[in-house]
Amino acid sequence: MKFIIAKDYEEMSRLAADVIASVMNEKPDCVLGLATGTTPIGLYQDLVKDYEEGKLDFSQVTSYNLDEYRGLDPKHPQSYRYFMQDNLFDHVNINPENTHVPDGANPDAEAACAAYEQAINEAGGVDVQLLGLGHNGHIGFNEPCDVFPKETHLVKLTESTIQANSRLFDSIDEVPREAYTMGVGTIMHAKKILVVANGAGKAQIVHDAFFGEVTPQVPASVLQFHPDVTVIVDAEAGSLCK
Ligand code: F6R
Repeated sequence: MKFIIAKDYEEMSRLAADVIASVMNEKPDCVLGLATGTTPIGLYQDLVKDYEEGKLDFSQVTSYNLDEYRGLDPKHPQSYRYFMQDNLFDHVNINPENTHVPDGANPDAEAACAAYEQAINEAGGVDVQLLGLGHNGHIGFNEPCDVFPKETHLVKLTESTIQANSRLFDSIDEVPREAYTMGVGTIMHAKKILVVANGAGKAQIVHDAFFGEVTPQVPASVLQFHPDVTVIVDAEAGSLCK
């Protein structure tokens, strides 16, 4: 595992964008695994800047996002599809048909999840998977549990995640209670994994996930077993990892 402590959010974002850019430059038709959330916004801005400066070409890139709320229209401003359009896809030359987010509008969970898993496999798997880190160690919507979930599946969100996400909705009642997410197994199949985390609020979980016991109670801890993981945190999030 490569563990990098950047001086601030800007440096964390730039270094992380460089990891993705180097995969794209080496393999122009690469498959990117993407995340939403507040952490990767700066990194997406850097990728857009690189594209505008002619340093990056998304024309042959395919992407698969980690997760999506179930029952939320893709046009809803809090849907993860909307987030991706707004923060990345609408600003670069990626072919819209090559961008994939689990189909939250499909009520048939089994069909939606199986189709997503199959599509990732048929695309040849993910070349680099970007991950943010939940305060409880979740990756995607894989919450602390007794057994690592393997494949894309339906999850019931925990109270703490509903609370955390409610800041983005008008009221807590509007926060969806369920989501579709890649499984921990799906994530672990990515050839390369890139984790970003920032802020003092993430310091404890960054320490526990990457330097603590590997346990499904801290889903991100399983990444310690992946052969090619880069973790990039800002100084605050890395403050307990010396
Ligand atoms: C987002 C996702 C989540 C977030 C995590 C951290 O697609 O899968 O696991 O990465 O909740 O979110 P932020 O970056 O908002 O702290």
